[in-house]
Amino acid sequence: MENRAPVRLVAPGLAVLLVLLSGCTGSTVQGRPGAAGVRDPYFPKAGNGGYQVEHYGLELDYDPARGVLDGTAVITARATQGLSSFNLDLSGLRVDSVRVQGEGARYNRTGNELTVRPAEDLEKGEVFSTEVRYSGRPKALSDPDGSKEGWITTSDGGAVAVGEPVGSMTWFPGNHHPSDKATYDITLTVPDGFEAVSNGELRSRTQRPGGRTAFAWHNPEPMASYLATAAIGPYKVSTGRTPSGVGVYTAVSPREAGASAEVLARVPEMVEWGAGRFGPYPFGTAGAIVVPPQALGYALETQTKPVYPGAPTEELVLHELAHQWFGDSVSPKSWKDMWLNEGFATYAEWLWAEEHGGPTAEERFRAFVDGDTSVDEAADSDWDAFPPAAPPGPDDISGNPVYYRGAMVLHRIRQEVGDAKFSALLRGWAADHRHGNASTADFTAYAEEKTGQSLKQVWDVWLYGEESPV
Ligand code: TRP
Ligand code: ZN
Repeated sequence: MENRAPVRLVAPGLAVLLVLLSGCTGSTVQGRPGAAGVRDPYFPKAGNGGYQVEHYGLELDYDPARGVLDGTAVITARATQGLSSFNLDLSGLRVDSVRVQGEGARYNRTGNELTVRPAEDLEKGEVFSTEVRYSGRPKALSDPDGSKEGWITTSDGGAVAVGEPVGSMTWFPGNHHPSDKATYDITLTVPDGFEAVSNGELRSRTQRPGGRTAFAWHNPEPMASYLATAAIGPYKVSTGRTPSGVGVYTAVSPREAGASAEVLARVPEMVEWGAGRFGPYPFGTAGAIVVPPQALGYALETQTKPVYPGAPTEELVLHELAHQWFGDSVSPKSWKDMWLNEGFATYAEWLWAEEHGGPTAEERFRAFVDGDTSVDEAADSDWDAFPPAAPPGPDDISGNPVYYRGAMVLHRIRQEVGDAKFSALLRGWAADHRHGNASTADFTAYAEEKTGQSLKQVWDVWLYGEESPV
C-alpha cells in the first residue's frame, strides 16, 4: 500500500541542481535501506536493522464493543547507519499515515514489514522521530508451538496483549526484537467501566469526552517489546508498596479475585526476597494482572506486571517475579538464549522453595536425574530432550529442557563452586547486565571469570551436550 504523502513539487532539472548544490555544501546524506530483520537464529524477520529505538510513545484508543484499536505511535530512534528507508514490524491493522521528523513519508507493507521512506535520508547517529497513525481490529497470532499471543480478546468484553516472542507487532509498529530495548509511555483510552492497565507507573487517569477515560502509563526503564502489555477489562485494582518502597499495582479479573487474594498479598514479600537474592529490584513498580483464564494458556513476565491466566500459584508468581531480573532487566540477545530467562526463573523457584520449607534445590536436581515425581511433578518430563542452549527449532524455545535442564545447569555450577560463589554469581550477573542484553556466551565467560573456576564440563555436558547428561 503506497500512501498519499505530498510529492515534492520540484521540476526534475531543478531537483538535480538542488542535489548538486546541497552536495557542495555537504548537507546531502547518502542513505541505504535498513535491514528487514536482525537475523535472529529462530525468528529471522523479527526486528529491523539500521536504527535503535530510544522511546515509544503509544496513544491507543480501544473500543471493546467493536474490537477496534485506533493508535498513534511516536517512535524516537537513533540511526546506526545512513538510512534511505527503514522497516518497522507490524501485523494486520491499517496504516493511515507515517511522518518522519514531522514530514509526510512514503511507506509500503509486505507481510509483517512496514517500510518507511522518509522525505530526506537520515544520517548515521541522527535521532529521529517517526509518527505512525494506524487503526483496525488487532488479531492474535499463533506461535510455532501452537500457543496464542498478541492482542487477545477476553471473555469479559475486554482484551489483553502479550508479546513473546513476536506478538507485540499485532498492536503497535516497532522494532520487535529483544535486542532493541527502549523506554515507553503507553496511554490507553477506554470506555468508562473498563480499567486499562499497562507496564510501569500510572501517571494519570483522565476523563475524556464521550464517557471515556485515558490511563497514562510511564516506563522510565528500558523494556524489550515482547514484555509490553495492555489489559482492558472490568478489573479490580489494588495498590500498595513493598517495605523498601516499590509501588505495587494489581489488577484482577473479578471472578478470580477470591482465589488470587492470598498469593497476591505476598508479592511485596517476594519482591524483597528477590532483592535479597539477586540484588535491587530493577524497576520502580511491581504487580500483577490476572486475566480471565480462557484468554491464554500460560503466564508471561510482562515488565513490572506479569499477566496470569486466572489465579496463579505461589510458584508461578515467584517465577514471573524472578523474570524481572532475568529476562526483563537482563534480556536475551536472541531467542536462542531463552534458557537465560527460563532456566534462571525456574531455579529461582527452587531457591524460594528451599528457603520456605520445600525441597532443597539439590533434592529437586536429584528428582530430575532419578525421575522422582514425588519431589517434582515435572521430573519425568522430557527435560533432557535437547541442550538448553540450543533448542532444535523455534517451537522448542519454551520447551521443558529450556526450563528444567536450564535450572540444572545453574545447580551444576553451584555444585562446582559452592553456595557463596554461586550467590555472588547470580547477583553479579544481574548487576553487570542490568537493563541490558546478554547471550549464553556472555554468561559462560562471566561465570568462569567471576568464580575463577573452569566450568567446561558443565557447559559441554549440561548446556550444549546433545546427549542426555544422565
Ligand atoms: N515466558 C513465559 C514464562 O514465564 C512462558 C512463555 C510464553 C514463553 N510464551 C513464550 C517462553 C514464548 C518462550 C517463548 O514461563
Ligand atoms: Zn518463565
